[in-house]
Amino acid sequence: MKYVVIHIFFIYNENGDTRMMDYKITVRNEEEMMEIAQNIESEKFPNMVICLDGELGSGKTVFVKGFAQALGITEVITSPTFNIVKEYYSGELPLFHMDVYRLKSGCQKFGFKDYYTKGGISIIEWSELICDCLPEERLDIEFKIIDENTRVLKFKPHGKDYEDLCSSTL
Ligand SMILES: Nc1ncnc2c1ncn2[C@@H]1O[C@H](COP(=O)(O)OP(=O)(O)OP(=O)(O)O)[C@@H](O)[C@H]1O
Ligand SMILES: [Mg+2]
Repeated sequence: MKYVVIHIFFIYNENGDTRMMDYKITVRNEEEMMEIAQNIESEKFPNMVICLDGELGSGKTVFVKGFAQALGITEVITSPTFNIVKEYYSGELPLFHMDVYRLKSGCQKFGFKDYYTKGGISIIEWSELICDCLPEERLDIEFKIIDENTRVLKFKPHGKDYEDLCSSTL
């Protein structure tokens, strides 16, 4: 008689269910980065918040460009570094592209929270600099440069909607 031993590994999150908490993806070029953003866009919902962190030139704005293209936004996406927020209304949902790298005053004064409930999608570059002004439910994506064209993305969903989004797109 033969015995087959099957090992099943469960990874528990803080709610006690078996979803994975983190997802890690290697991105080999700019086109792949755009595709990943397009996959996330395909599961969009109003008031979605995506936080992008990682060193200069790691691909955060490229991700936003891919996302905006999938939304059907016709304007050219450029970094809102000096404006802090750029608003786009020509896509399926409004897109609020924020880059808080050069934010001088405290985030409370800026009114970021108003954007999260306008029915659009907020994507925030350098979100770690405004951690007191982020919603509890959101998708965090950490960008790491490996070499000239390779990036590693780490996705961390906060809240069920974002966990579902990650498990269906990644
Ligand atoms: N796999 C890749 N994914 C994304 N960008 C890549 C990749 N490989 C090379 N690149 C290049 O890296 C650069 C990424 O620039 P990008 O402006 O998106 O960075 P960023 O993270 O937004 O920087 P910053 O913090 O200054 O806003 C681009 O010049 C792009 O062509
Ligand atoms: Mg950028």
